[in-house]
Amino acid sequence: MPATNTQKKAWVITGPTSGIGYRTALALGDHGTVVLVGRNQDKLTGVKKEIEARGGSAITVVADMSDIVRVRAAAAEIIGLGLPISGVLNNAGILPAKPGKNKQGWELGFATNHLGPLAFTDVLVPSLADGTNIVFIASAVEDPERKIAVQAGFRGSRYISAEAAARGEYLAGGSAHAGADGYATSKQGALASVFSLAREFPRLRFRAVEPGVNPGSNLARDMPRPLYLMGKALAPVMAFMPYYSTPRRAAKVITTVLTDPSDATGIYYDEKGNPMQASKQVSDPAYADRYIAESRDLLATVPTAS
Ligand SMILES: NC(=O)c1ccc[n+]([C@@H]2O[C@H](COP(=O)([O-])OP(=O)(O)OC[C@H]3O[C@@H](n4cnc5c(N)ncnc54)[C@H](OP(=O)(O)O)[C@@H]3O)[C@@H](O)[C@H]2O)c1
Repeated sequence: MPATNTQKKAWVITGPTSGIGYRTALALGDHGTVVLVGRNQDKLTGVKKEIEARGGSAITVVADMSDIVRVRAAAAEIIGLGLPISGVLNNAGILPAKPGKNKQGWELGFATNHLGPLAFTDVLVPSLADGTNIVFIASAVEDPERKIAVQAGFRGSRYISAEAAARGEYLAGGSAHAGADGYATSKQGALASVFSLAREFPRLRFRAVEPGVNPGSNLARDMPRPLYLMGKALAPVMAFMPYYSTPRRAAKVITTVLTDPSDATGIYYDEKGNPMQASKQVSDPAYADRYIAESRDLLATVPTAS
């Protein structure tokens, strides 16, 4: 049952309809009103009903997080609700195995995993109260020196520029696996956002979480079916391996980081909730700031709907 003092708090979460986000949305129901942002109204309504059945309250906002025009409108809609927002969780993400484009003609993974969340955050920020927590779900595959990711075929972020990433172009010498360079590059955007925005807005708290390898979620849904199903079947056993987790466990860590009232900002947490190191690349302030500046230049080419 939610405690009474949580009634004055609201938590915004993107991608609450599956995997890690679904479990986190349910957990956030114990901390106040949950604003569920997703692309499918029926799925959102299902999660809302579950939260309400547990004694919580939730509001749904439909938005395709890859569509910059819709993302900005959704953020404006959320501000218009006038809720006392205590935290924003940028969780929605995809691992596309095949090339795809968003409404603006940009690479779908880069738009969904990085440009959309950045545009969403940039619209929300001016209306957020001092001390609000903004959490981005990152992925350690952005680090070319992360052994477990290299063993899985990743070669780290292959970022050249935001324009190049939006065209699906990456540094040479990347992964042999379809979608791996795009995913690692786009997820580095979550860390660039946290590190850069933490410097830009010291009155707010920006945090990143690496949720652990979660074969129990649906992130690998675009992978070859047998591989995806095998991961799902082995998920309960794999959960005990180093760096692995389950959506339920990841949700616990993320909820703790999102609701933490301390001043911690610009921090990256691992699957157990302990601070961890990002790649050398994105740990360099000049690099992270360039990643965000270039992303904003690109976003500025999309007119805001009147
Ligand atoms: N699973 C892992 O091993 C792992 C590891 C590191 C980081 N992560 C990150 O964790 C986050 C959650 O992923 P997950 O593993 O829980 O995957 P998931 O089960 O596939 O859930 C992804 C969520 O994002 C939503 N989503 C995808 N594209 C969207 C769009 N264009 N607009 C709005 N919502 C969209 C999905 O909505 P629908 O239900 O409508 O599809 C779903 O709610 C992602 O950011 C992912 O990169 C995952």
